Amino acid sequence: MQSYAEGPVTEGDRPLGMYVHVPFCSVRCGYCDFNTYTADELGEGATRATYASSAIAEVRRAAEVLGRRPVETVFFGGGTPTQLPADDLVRVLRALDEHLGLAPDAEVTTEANPDSVTPASLARLREGGFTRISFGMQSAVPHVLATLDRTHDPARVPQAVRWAREAGFEQVSVDLIYGTPGESVDDWRTTLDATVALEPDHVSAYALIVEDGTAFARKVRRGEVVMPDDDETADKYLLADAVLSEAGLGWYELSNWARDADARCRHNLLYWHGADWWGVGPGAHSHLAGRRWWNVKHPAAYAQRLERGESVEAGSEVVDAAGRRLEQVMLELRLREGLALDALDAAGRAEVPDLRDRGLLLGDERLVLTLEGRLLADAVVRQLTP
Ligand SMILES: C[S@@+](CC[C@H](N)C(=O)[O-])C[C@H]1O[C@@H](n2cnc3c(N)ncnc32)[C@H](O)[C@@H]1O
Ligand code: SF4
Repeated sequence: MQSYAEGPVTEGDRPLGMYVHVPFCSVRCGYCDFNTYTADELGEGATRATYASSAIAEVRRAAEVLGRRPVETVFFGGGTPTQLPADDLVRVLRALDEHLGLAPDAEVTTEANPDSVTPASLARLREGGFTRISFGMQSAVPHVLATLDRTHDPARVPQAVRWAREAGFEQVSVDLIYGTPGESVDDWRTTLDATVALEPDHVSAYALIVEDGTAFARKVRRGEVVMPDDDETADKYLLADAVLSEAGLGWYELSNWARDADARCRHNLLYWHGADWWGVGPGAHSHLAGRRWWNVKHPAAYAQRLERGESVEAGSEVVDAAGRRLEQVMLELRLREGLALDALDAAGRAEVPDLRDRGLLLGDERLVLTLEGRLLADAVVRQLTP
């Protein structure tokens, strides 16, 4: 397997996505363990002002490995990419185009917190080549937002979505979280109704995960907040699917709904199909033809290594055939288009009739989860990969 610095990888037929991690947030949400830093946490040796230049230095290194290979999708995530000036994000996007080359119809997404954009910043991003924006809405209910430490006023979301439309964004998505302590089923319905009223092209809705080591996990451990039971979380998933489907947003992945096939997030589809992607930025992960690697985590170490002309790779692994098969089952079974039956080994195929009889799976050549199966997806994957 070719390593990071060994020259062009000739895998021209596999679609390529670029991820750009922006590790800054104004406030850390208690539940989040992403690699992100507030101004207080950042310390010496890295600043927001120089971040775009560091990221561009990694883009140049990526081009040495990849050669010119059309980039089908670009995704700026975080952290909060829109904590950086729009001009900085556009500079990084230009560098990707200059050094690697964007495909003519490339999908270019940025994540954004609703209170980190203005009409002017959105217009600049759109004119600079961004086509898609994903707002971290999470909830429309103030007490739920407060439990999540989210800083925006719920009224800011419709405003930000309107600004994005006025700026000409082709695709507008919102991220939701359900299962926050204290969130009633009615609260969740309020959030879903508010979401539908935004007429988004795409919605992601994830159950809140208690991540070890976070402030939120400590509160759960101390009993200050109580997580809902699995039945309530399942009911909220069913409600989400019913309300979003009724509004014309169909599921295409377990936690993702889209207006139509064009509104699906092509970047995430590329991950879920095991394509190639390069993650730029501290702590970012990459995958090229079965080899994975990850970058040094801290922005200061990342910037210093690039300044010295060194690799930012911190570690790597080659996933073996068994690992790749397990991943393929886990990821593709979550998709509406389903998992090809021949991706399973003989022992997995032998389990299919039982899962069909229990109403969890449909299909012959491609296996697709039923609604009931979507609620039990992890258990279905375990049964198919004995
Ligand atoms: C890491 S954030 C980056 C974008 C932006 N800063 C935001 O918060 O919307 C991407 C998404 O991950 C979600 N997320 C982070 N930690 C999570 C957790 N513990 N459980 C569920 N969703 C989580 C966030 O709520 C957000 O919708
Ligand atoms: S959820 Fe988003 S805004 Fe909150 S800390 Fe994580 S990356 Fe930052």
